[in-house]
Amino acid sequence: PESAAPPHAMTVTVTGAAGQIGYALLFRIASGAMLGPDTRIRLKLLEIPAAVRAAEGTALELADCAFPLLDSVDVTDSAAAAFDGAHVALLVGARPRTAGMERADLLAANGGIFGPQGRAINDHAADSVRILVVGNPANTNALIAAAHAPDVPSDRFTAMTRLDHNRALAQLAIKLGCRTEEIEGVTVWGNHSASQYPDLTHATAGGQPVPSLVDEEWIEGDFIPRVAKRGAEVIEVRGSSSAASAASAAIDHVRDWVLGTPDRWTSAGVVSDGSYGVPEGLVSSFPVRSSGGAWEIVQGLEVPPFSRERIDTSVAELEAERDAVRELGLLG
Ligand code: NAD
Ligand code: LMR
Repeated sequence: PESAAPPHAMTVTVTGAAGQIGYALLFRIASGAMLGPDTRIRLKLLEIPAAVRAAEGTALELADCAFPLLDSVDVTDSAAAAFDGAHVALLVGARPRTAGMERADLLAANGGIFGPQGRAINDHAADSVRILVVGNPANTNALIAAAHAPDVPSDRFTAMTRLDHNRALAQLAIKLGCRTEEIEGVTVWGNHSASQYPDLTHATAGGQPVPSLVDEEWIEGDFIPRVAKRGAEVIEVRGSSSAASAASAAIDHVRDWVLGTPDRWTSAGVVSDGSYGVPEGLVSSFPVRSSGGAWEIVQGLEVPPFSRERIDTSVAELEAERDAVRELGLLG
């Protein structure tokens, strides 16, 4: 009594496939959690030569799961081969921050990876390719990759701030004793860094405005720093940077992008069109909805002075990162 395999297949490229996030991500992609039950998956895994064998080990385990939707797994150290025909590209491969490091330390170390990968995406990916940059500094790495892919519309390049968004939902749900599902209207603005602004101005929980349920001291003194510094907290407590939660956020980001957001907005790093005073071309986090396979920035939200200042601070950091990588010649 066999059922027919879904007719539709997509090629998903994952870089840094032998890393921690890769290990938490690949099995969920292959299970259908990212692209749904009607899409078969062809995985292409990119690693540096020294880690290709470990990625091949992960490929053995992927085979052993006997996932019905998984058509194939190819492992390579060639970016051209890895991005060939890619419909979705998850750029995870990069050196993670370790205790005591700030994201700025990563700019030079990781910036050099994303230019060549942007070029390979430009030359080899499917016309419809959608790219999520997870590797840090994610926003600026996305900017670098986009700068090397002139034939790919820049709105296909995104950076992951969904983990920050999910962290904000989780902290608020704990505070209010509600379920994350009851919360709407949360936004993470700016950079995926400690300067980010998790914004509760327009949030509701069970239909009630959140600013009427929690006091300002909690928002400013606890909530914002907790969310913004959660990456460092995980590094300190766990001894290495977040992996399964980052993978889960990547699944959420791509699923919502491809299949559409449900009834509420989320947060993603997208190329600014100048909305909310964020300079055009910067990859910054915004409130976004997806329909028809494209992100749209939610328009018309009031931005009170407290929010304005926080957004401007994080955007200034993004401009400084852009200027730094431009100086290093990484914008082509
Ligand atoms: P990891 O060190 O465990 O794995 C990284 C992998 O990338 C390694 O296997 C390495 O060999 C590979 N790699 C390095 N250069 C590569 C290249 N040029 N091409 C292909 N592969 C390459 O690190 P991880 O914990 O998986 O984290 C990966 C990245 O994700 C880090 O930059 C980390 O800071 C970032 N991160 C981002 C978020 C976010 O919310 N945006 C959250 C967590 C982690
Ligand atoms: C995170 O947010 O957990 C990651 O970006 C890791 C880091 O360096 O903060």
